[in-house]
Amino acid sequence: MNTFDETFELTQNDFQAIAFLLYNNVGISLSESKKHLVYNRLIHRIRSKKLSSFKQYIHLLDDKNAPEWNYFLNALTTNLTSFYREPYHFELLAEYASKHLIHKSQTQPIKVWCSACSTGEEAYSIAMTLIDTFGCIDPPVKILATDLNTDVLQRAKKGIYSVKELENLTDQQKKKFFNCDSKKQYFQVKKEVKALISFKRLNLISKQWPMAKQFDVIFCRNVMIYFDKQTQQQLLRKLAHYLPIDARLFIGHSESISTTQTAFKLMGQTMYKRV
Ligand SMILES: C[S@@+](CC[C@H](N)C(=O)[O-])C[C@H]1O[C@@H](n2cnc3c(N)ncnc32)[C@H](O)[C@@H]1O
Repeated sequence: MNTFDETFELTQNDFQAIAFLLYNNVGISLSESKKHLVYNRLIHRIRSKKLSSFKQYIHLLDDKNAPEWNYFLNALTTNLTSFYREPYHFELLAEYASKHLIHKSQTQPIKVWCSACSTGEEAYSIAMTLIDTFGCIDPPVKILATDLNTDVLQRAKKGIYSVKELENLTDQQKKKFFNCDSKKQYFQVKKEVKALISFKRLNLISKQWPMAKQFDVIFCRNVMIYFDKQTQQQLLRKLAHYLPIDARLFIGHSESISTTQTAFKLMGQTMYKRV
């Protein structure tokens, strides 16, 4: 970790102003323990813009439409993810799809929302799972993959990953779903897999979401951990509107839905059914 630079001080007031802006706009709660993280993630921006203090930097955000907002939000989100992260969820998805969704898809396409998709691994894992379950490379599936962070969305759209990033995949999966360079160092998701997914920017905390239709499955994993209880409850109430009865919601392994949320019933391993 970088040490604090003597020439720039992140005062308590600066930290609180940053935490306030972040919470109000995207719901992320920053505890005092995140002061170093904030410093390290914003200091390069202050230097590159030749500013003399964090206070000056915060002023750049006075205008809600200032281009700096994008950099600010991209810098302060945490985007850790991987292919088939929490692998039991993809087994549960495959089971649910084969029992319920294949039949349903005879009359309408299956709609999945991957709502905090980061660099794309989660959305591609959903697509690969459904390709395997439906037994064809072009299943009747539409996946909406969204995130707040525009940098990660750009990476997700490209769909290029290193050998290390593909370590959870078997050789057979790599061959089936990726093209690779001659040295086998970089792998690009095949166009047929990409064709199932639309990547878009969406703030989960915004008052209105642009989608008109409900989803058969929503993945909202490892993002609620950054929100406080009240924000989590509001988000879950909104998600419930986007799920018809019996549809499934997947959340992260360290997240939970309180028993006061009567819209969801736990079906096992942080997979919930809309009731
Ligand atoms: C730790 S990653 C989780 C990625 C993936 N869901 C997984 O479980 O592997 C959290 C993601 O949530 C996104 N995020 C944070 N706040 C958000 C918000 N208000 N709206 C939409 N996405 C948000 C971040 O940009 C980040 O990519």
